[in-house]
Amino acid sequence: MSGISIEDELLKRAAYFEDILGKALPAEEGYARTVIEAMNYSLLAGGKRLRPVMMLEAFKLFAGEEADDSVLRPFMLAIEMIHTYSLVHDDLPAMDNDEYRRGRKTTHVVYGPGMATLAGDGLLNLAFETAIKGAALGKELVYYDGDTSNRYLAALDVLGTKAGIYGMVGGQCADICAENNHDMDTETARDVLHYIDENKTGALIESSLMIGAIIGGASEAQVKQVEKMGSNVGIAFQIQDDILDIEGDAAELGKPIGSDLKNDKTTYVSLNGMDEAKKKVKELSDEASEILKSFGQSGTFLEGLFEYLIYRKK
Ligand code: IPE
Ligand code: IPE
Ligand code: MG
Ligand code: MG
Ligand code: MG
Repeated sequence: MSGISIEDELLKRAAYFEDILGKALPAEEGYARTVIEAMNYSLLAGGKRLRPVMMLEAFKLFAGEEADDSVLRPFMLAIEMIHTYSLVHDDLPAMDNDEYRRGRKTTHVVYGPGMATLAGDGLLNLAFETAIKGAALGKELVYYDGDTSNRYLAALDVLGTKAGIYGMVGGQCADICAENNHDMDTETARDVLHYIDENKTGALIESSLMIGAIIGGASEAQVKQVEKMGSNVGIAFQIQDDILDIEGDAAELGKPIGSDLKNDKTTYVSLNGMDEAKKKVKELSDEASEILKSFGQSGTFLEGLFEYLIYRKK
């Protein structure tokens, strides 16, 4: 891509999303005001906005660069709400017990653990309220050759499945169960770790890319390829997160380092060492780029983004 760096391209796209988000925030009023304030505090804290950005790029890959993205916007909002709720809960004292996120005090530090739990619940629910309303209002989309011919239903199915026990929640469960557990043999530990990475982080990235592809007009076979691509990017993303938890800079990350050690987490680095971890991030990302290129376009923003994420510092 000429001229502008990937980092600047990403900022531009994140700002585009934040504009959409700003118009969709629930009003802070009535007796539910405190929970809504906590939800908006978490949503507006910033963050890279990678998931809605990736969703829009996957959409454009199939719908074309100039396609009207209004049909996708409710899903872009929904995935960021689900991701944000997962972070609010992940930081709770009963989970990773962290006090900084996106450069600010975590939601439970500001609003208390009870309100932070509710803010997470509220965000998860609002995600589906938003996506369902979008689907109900949405324009007619072309026939889909998947289990359902309706692209909105197919996208809602992915949104639900990848966020729940067959996705992010499942991964977070295994992540907690593996804490302080050193009794597993090496092969089982690697298997469990793969499940953790694929689900706690991979699933929402798969979901983002798959929903973009589905609404953008991809075939079921193409969506399966996109799922594989998302899995690679997602696992690489989590391994890099684990690397940064050791080598990163807390101020740049906007969250503390050393959280994994503090909680005795099983990570790719703890099992395989730093060098192997870095090699694996590159290998998985390169595989993702190969799949991306198989869709017949090169030099796309997504290609640059996958490369950029290998060396990301935040
Ligand atoms: C953090 O995700 C949690 C993981 C899945 C590793 P991000 O690094 O995308 O967090 P934000 O949205 O930019 O804050
Ligand atoms: C969290 O993994 C993944 C989620 C589903 C939130 P981590 O616990 O490593 O994420 P960070 O490092 O707190 O962002
Ligand atoms: Mg965690
Ligand atoms: Mg954490
Ligand atoms: Mg981490």
